[in-house]
Amino acid sequence: MSKDAFLSAMGIEVYRLRTQPGKLQQSDADSELQESAEQPSITFDYQNTESSQVTVAPSIPATDSLAELSLRAVANIASTCKLCALSNERTNVVFGSGSESADLMFIGEGPGAEEDKQGLPFVGKAGQLLTSMIAALGLNRDAVYICNIVKCRPPRNRDPLPIEAKTCTPYLRRQIELIQPKVIVALGRVSAQLLLDSEMPLGGLRKQTYKFKDTEIDLVVTYHPAYLLRKPTEKAKSWEDLWKVRQILQG
Ligand code: URA
Repeated sequence: MSKDAFLSAMGIEVYRLRTQPGKLQQSDADSELQESAEQPSITFDYQNTESSQVTVAPSIPATDSLAELSLRAVANIASTCKLCALSNERTNVVFGSGSESADLMFIGEGPGAEEDKQGLPFVGKAGQLLTSMIAALGLNRDAVYICNIVKCRPPRNRDPLPIEAKTCTPYLRRQIELIQPKVIVALGRVSAQLLLDSEMPLGGLRKQTYKFKDTEIDLVVTYHPAYLLRKPTEKAKSWEDLWKVRQILQG
């Protein structure tokens, strides 16, 4: 995959000045970008939800643990989750989709309206762009795993509250623990800050590659596809980030 193939898949045509002044040609070069657990113990602490709106589903024991459960079993529990107020307004829980043995895992912030309707992550406009980004990496969407920090849609697509993210974290941790990807891509500021326990702006966070918590899993930060739809000029930077991902996957 070349940079230009990637940018073209993302809807950007690249023209670069070649040897003949005044003549612009579509470039085929990408050389300048060649630079560039504790397996978390998954324990639900229902006492720790700190919100008066939280209701606990009677079917989930207060001290339950997800540690022994399969992805399907965890998804099943999540499908009836009432642990935070986001459950009150959701249509569907959006647990995740893709390959359970994926090397690459994308983590967004939370479902939007279309995702809430279909019960699947990244199926709206931003999802279409994410699919193009995955295809530009030479991968099929089914070969990666896609999920979110919170599994229920925040009203009016607001950022998830810290308590909502915290309450939902055991699901995500178990997903990561079971899938054991080589690389996690944090999509956007909210996801990146929560996964890295940082308050640094996204522009700063994406400058380096991290290890996720106490694991050997590489974590790359990039722009959220919804942001890229609003600011297409930033797509070239997301190429740089995905190039890092590609290097890791091939390494
Ligand atoms: N935005 C996200 O962060 N996640 C989705 O699933 C869809 C849009």
